[in-house]
Amino acid sequence: MAYDLPKDLEEFRKVVRDFAEEKIKPIAYHLDQAKEFPKEIVKELGEMGIMGIPFSEQYGGAGLTNEHYAIAVEELSRVDAGVGVIVSAHTSLGTWGLNEWGSEEQKEKYLRPLLTGKSVGGFGLTEDNAGSDSAGTETTAVLEGDHYILNGKKIFITNAPEAQTYLVTAVTTPGKGNHGISMFIVDKDFEGFTFSEPYDKLGIRSSITAELHFKDVKVPKENLLGEEGKGFKYAMMILDGGRIGIASQALGIAQGAYESAKEYGLAREQFGQAIARMQHNTFVLADMATELKAARLLIYDAARKKDKHVPYGMDAAMAKLYASDLAEEITSKALQMYGGSGFIKGVDVERFYRDSKITQIYEGTNEIMRVVIGSYILPRVKKEKRERTKTKQSQVGDRKKKIFKGDPKEAAKNLVEALKADGFNFDNKDVDANGPILEAERVVVAGMGIGEDQNMELIKDLAKESGAVVSATRPAAQVRGYVPSDRYIGLSGTDFKGKLYIGVGVSGAMQHLKGIKDAGTIVVINNDESADFFENTDYGIVGDFHKVVPALIEEIKNA
Ligand code: CAA
Repeated sequence: MAYDLPKDLEEFRKVVRDFAEEKIKPIAYHLDQAKEFPKEIVKELGEMGIMGIPFSEQYGGAGLTNEHYAIAVEELSRVDAGVGVIVSAHTSLGTWGLNEWGSEEQKEKYLRPLLTGKSVGGFGLTEDNAGSDSAGTETTAVLEGDHYILNGKKIFITNAPEAQTYLVTAVTTPGKGNHGISMFIVDKDFEGFTFSEPYDKLGIRSSITAELHFKDVKVPKENLLGEEGKGFKYAMMILDGGRIGIASQALGIAQGAYESAKEYGLAREQFGQAIARMQHNTFVLADMATELKAARLLIYDAARKKDKHVPYGMDAAMAKLYASDLAEEITSKALQMYGGSGFIKGVDVERFYRDSKITQIYEGTNEIMRVVIGSYILPRVKKEKRERTKTKQSQVGDRKKKIFKGDPKEAAKNLVEALKADGFNFDNKDVDANGPILEAERVVVAGMGIGEDQNMELIKDLAKESGAVVSATRPAAQVRGYVPSDRYIGLSGTDFKGKLYIGVGVSGAMQHLKGIKDAGTIVVINNDESADFFENTDYGIVGDFHKVVPALIEEIKNA
């Protein structure tokens, strides 16, 4: 193991390793390709006590240490980094804060099922305008009687929508900067709490990641975690611990890639000898072994400091910075050792290579890790108060942003009148719906929001009436198959540069908007008033497309 650990920790490592080898390794490639969250594995991890390692037995935890936790995440990630982050995000981000600041009632209600693996935890901090600058939170929580009313959106949330409870930051006192942010325990079943479609990710594909959407979500007052106004500080403290988990995940990925490369290098012969024996490759493997040991020392040191309740924020950041940069480097070199065979799907180094990248990004980018480390090693300077711009930047240039709400018929009528006033008429009904998008004058685009396949009929009818070709967003084309994969609009697809774009059930993700920045007039129909698209459009109708689209077709016919 290249590190002399006490016997009980090595025994613990063996238990997790055996489980990972027997139960996870055989399905790791399938989980990756199918983007499948391994529910059964998570259940078994719960039964083994892995979902509650560094917590007291009083609430069902395993009563072990953060070093045990680091080893567990490392061993799981050595086989499947997606499973590693499920455990890490659950333990550090979704659970630790509850254990630290939760009331007795909160612990009984939410902590116990988390520690015993009966439920999975998530953490909602990141937003569109609050990534690295996490104090830029725009989600709001307004106290009304016995409830806080939550509105807003969180992005890139690990374990969503599988997790049952989420620790979510929201602004309770605007204008007070980070001191106006509080943290809430939000249950998946609260009304108005919904999720986006899970992301299609480069790596860690057996873990699931989605957006959290809050629309007038009534969170009981007793679900405030700790004190009002301390949510940002709690989030920073939670992340300090989370970074030990991500460092361990990165170490596990790198260890898995190293072992795979060594084994391959010993088996593969060229020029009459095992390629691992060629001096260049021996040196590569020697460097890997040395750096893995260094990463391990950094991680276990940070974990031990946490166990001893001495400051460990800098140590955790150093461990995460070093181990994740190392994971990217080692997985790349391991793939190189495999040569062409490493570039083919089904070889574990190919998956490790993809999985490694995120460890340099999440739970604080490595640039932020250096900011954190810098803040410990340099004398503190008083910060200027920063003003944050509230207005969201349009991604498609200056647009009219005229939004119609209320009665769908009235809204459709207003929209058609506005379009007519802009010089549009609807005389041409003979456009080939499958014609080339790049040359089309008009397009009607379906987003994931239209739901069932059969709703495409409505989209096609609208296209026919408005003389438009039919297209979709990338997920709507690739995940749902509404249009062939070579007909979607967006960053990786085609551009639309014609005169009229009508999007239905499209949320307005940056990747899609990049494909319509040169569109003449943009119209969007969406039932979610907070959809980003309404900040990037000329006209919009807020409403259920089942009602709005037929009303619009009718208005266009009359026009
Ligand atoms: N512990 C306790 N308090 C802390 C703290 C810590 N580690 N870090 C900062 N604070 C306190 C400061 O003392 C300060 O308190 P006062 O206002 O009372 O003086 C307050 O928080 C603000 O501190 P800063 O001025 O340093 O904060 P900042 O706004 O400049 O931000 C930052 C600092 C380090 C850049 C921070 O915003 C940060 O860590 N950003 C990265 C966010 C991040 O890691 N996101 C990951 C999302 S979760 C994720 O990725 C999960 C996943 O998918 C698995």
